[in-house]
Amino acid sequence: MNNNPIRYGIIGLGNIARGVHIPGILRSPDAVLAAVCDPNETRLAAAQRDYGLSPDVCFTDYRDLLSSGLVDAVSICTPNNVHVPVALEAVKNGIPFACEKPLSVDASSAKPLLDAVNETGIPNMVCFSYRFKKAARYARDLIAAGRIGKIRHVYVRYLQGWGNPEKDCPRVWRFDRAASGSGTLADLGSHMLDLVRFLTADEYTLFTAQNGTFMTERRSADPAKNGARETVDVDDYAHYFAGTQSGIAASFEISRNAFGRGNFQHIEIYGDRGALVYELEDDDFLCICEGADEGTHTFRRMEIPEQYFVDQMQCFLDRLRGDEHGLCATVADGYEDMLELDEIIRSSENGTAVRHSAR
Ligand SMILES: NC(=O)c1ccc[n+]([C@@H]2O[C@H](COP(=O)([O-])OP(=O)(O)OC[C@H]3O[C@@H](n4cnc5c(N)ncnc54)[C@H](O)[C@@H]3O)[C@@H](O)[C@H]2O)c1
Repeated sequence: MNNNPIRYGIIGLGNIARGVHIPGILRSPDAVLAAVCDPNETRLAAAQRDYGLSPDVCFTDYRDLLSSGLVDAVSICTPNNVHVPVALEAVKNGIPFACEKPLSVDASSAKPLLDAVNETGIPNMVCFSYRFKKAARYARDLIAAGRIGKIRHVYVRYLQGWGNPEKDCPRVWRFDRAASGSGTLADLGSHMLDLVRFLTADEYTLFTAQNGTFMTERRSADPAKNGARETVDVDDYAHYFAGTQSGIAASFEISRNAFGRGNFQHIEIYGDRGALVYELEDDDFLCICEGADEGTHTFRRMEIPEQYFVDQMQCFLDRLRGDEHGLCATVADGYEDMLELDEIIRSSENGTAVRHSAR
């Protein structure tokens, strides 16, 4: 890639595109927003207006955007079942891509993409966004340096409250298994599976899970259906235990029915010589307990060095320029995550433990 600004395209113009991807591109000195795509013409028109784009760089079909010659790289910000078709088309056109998580709706549908990037070497990223949190990056380095010793336990909570009945969220694609793969598990659990791999540099060996649905019906998201009730076929919560290759005993509690919670993450990591607590609600922070702290059971909040403050979209652009430190998740990580999600679903559905072999 030359030194001109990277001409960047955005496919799917919903919340994550407008909240993270587009602002990241507009902030960066290394890229320009060159084209956008969404089949929803209202959203497309809003993006055209808000970002001052000309009509001829606004597409309703991603294939037209990807073959237009207008972009050097794209973000894929569509619902989960539309990630792989768009990414395969990007590969076909030789265009690097940052794809939202989870990679797909199950591992088998994601496999052709893994094969395609392995064959072509097209640069890619899967947007496991919490890898870019300063507290997570610092924790990863502290763990790798042996600061808390050998890890025994990881306890993870990821809680949101927007699924609660009083929020009256309609049955959008996140409640439809064909579009999402699973519910809270795909949406939030996928992040935590990846984040624990990232923090510990370890791989899972076993899952035992119990997932469930509190609200089995929601009002239709289609205004023409006048609030008709529609079936929800995905989980509202996912609780699972995991074992890892190095012998960590981990547990995960994931819900979008946690009253009062916005985007709350709390991870406790216990080693044989110390402990770390990562937490995120609006901002993220890290606490440590070690040495003399042990007798007083004190967890001290840590100063996080400047080098750990990074931005997801800038990291992807750095990767395209060959100047990234290999910490972004790739399609290979996304595929691993899909295998894990499938196994957790199987464990919950069958009421049995399911073994996992990292690829
Ligand atoms: N990394 C994170 O922390 C994070 C956070 C939120 C969402 N996400 C992921 O981002 C993706 C999108 O989520 P969202 O909340 O923005 O959803 P959303 O429903 O707000 O937006 C999705 C957009 O994709 C568009 N779309 C659908 N089919 C398309 C197609 N064929 N071509 C182009 N656009 C198409 C829709 O019209 C819609 O505008 C999901 O995969 C989700 O899991 C990731």
